[in-house]
Amino acid sequence: MKPLPGFRDLFPEDFARRSYLVGRWRETARRYGFVEFDGPTLESIELYRKKNSGGEILGQLYEFTDKGERGVALRPEVTPTLARMVAARHRDYPKPLRWFNVGTCFRYERQQRGRLREFLQFNCDLVGDATPAADAEVVALLIDLLRSFGLGPQDFAIRLSDRSAWHDFLTRNGIEKERAGEFLTIVDRMEKMPPEKTEELLAPFGIPLTTLQEFIARAEIPALAPLLADLEARGLREYVRPDLGVVRGLAYYTGVVFEAFALQGNLRAIAGGGRYDRLLSDLSDGDVDLPAVGFGVGDAVLLELLKECAGAKDQEATALKADAPVQIYLVIASEDHRTKALGLAQQLRGEGWRVSYPLGEERVGKQFGAAETAGASLAVVIGAEWPRLKVKRLSDRHEEEMGEDVLAAWLQEQRNLRPET
Ligand code: HAM
Repeated sequence: MKPLPGFRDLFPEDFARRSYLVGRWRETARRYGFVEFDGPTLESIELYRKKNSGGEILGQLYEFTDKGERGVALRPEVTPTLARMVAARHRDYPKPLRWFNVGTCFRYERQQRGRLREFLQFNCDLVGDATPAADAEVVALLIDLLRSFGLGPQDFAIRLSDRSAWHDFLTRNGIEKERAGEFLTIVDRMEKMPPEKTEELLAPFGIPLTTLQEFIARAEIPALAPLLADLEARGLREYVRPDLGVVRGLAYYTGVVFEAFALQGNLRAIAGGGRYDRLLSDLSDGDVDLPAVGFGVGDAVLLELLKECAGAKDQEATALKADAPVQIYLVIASEDHRTKALGLAQQLRGEGWRVSYPLGEERVGKQFGAAETAGASLAVVIGAEWPRLKVKRLSDRHEEEMGEDVLAAWLQEQRNLRPET
């Protein structure tokens, strides 16, 4: 039987790739002083229906009535949960909050490359600061995150926009505030739709497609100037492109919005985020009014991207090799000394090394084969000469002989090989 469409089995080699990804996520967030939190995967449906989450996500909810007759949904994103949690306990934390989360999300999406129905999402959010300095901090974090995988300016860019520019446009064109959401959804989908279709959807607003296209092409977004200057000061300006074509699908964004996209191939957005200054207030019925800005990245689309970019692919291969499941393989060449081998395995494991050996009698050649397959760096041969040992470096077949009593000290001296601490 197969898993459901859009759900994944992660076999060990898939899990290793994802662990590499998640390791870099956490490491980068911590470099920016962010702390990790988590919330429930199942939430009350009201959390998503209440005013603001909105957009197409509502149509993609995995929702049901639980045994207690509550309307519930698997979380399609983490931002509403974060807003709910921060609103409940914000007095306990100094502002601004720098919080990150690595969590599973569910969306009943149409199947396409890099888009699944169950995926892991990494979110970084900065709550309690309404300035462009906070926007820049979050955008810089996203850029550094992608760079940590060996991706460069030839591989990705961040499209930056500001919803306030669109609100000015709507005011100038006499469109009421209440219809802004509907209008922005059209702009959001425009790139994926044939022009005739966009024209048709725009008709009720009385705005010709050409007016919209001219507005986007103008590309002047004065509100972005401080954010761009901040990124310039960090040496990150080359990664960002002001682009009014980005408005984002979610309803709660209020100001700056951005999306990371791949410069080659036709992958959908790698990451997306923006400023949502009213979500906390809306979800707490006005009790807590804190501005916020953040972004989310999914694992699936990033894993696809890493396969395509040469530098990133090499870096991933090196990292996975360095994280091999076995570092030291004990080759038991003489069954008479199996008990010694068991003692040695336990001793080395106690020192933090990843150690394996054959559970039963095997030909020596087969044992070396097993050592290679497991990715071991060293084979330690235990033979008739015990307590003398042979240590073989598998990368270049270099061999050394030594007494069993000096092995531990010798291992500690090996560069590029470290036990787990
Ligand atoms: P989003 O644009 O819906 O924003 O999702 C952010 C990222 O999550 C996407 O760019 C993509 O990498 C990943 N993602 C979304 N849907 C799927 C899917 N079906 N399969 C795989 N990956 C997916 C949000 O979710 C906002 N809550 C982000 C945010 C945080 N805004 C402020 N703070």
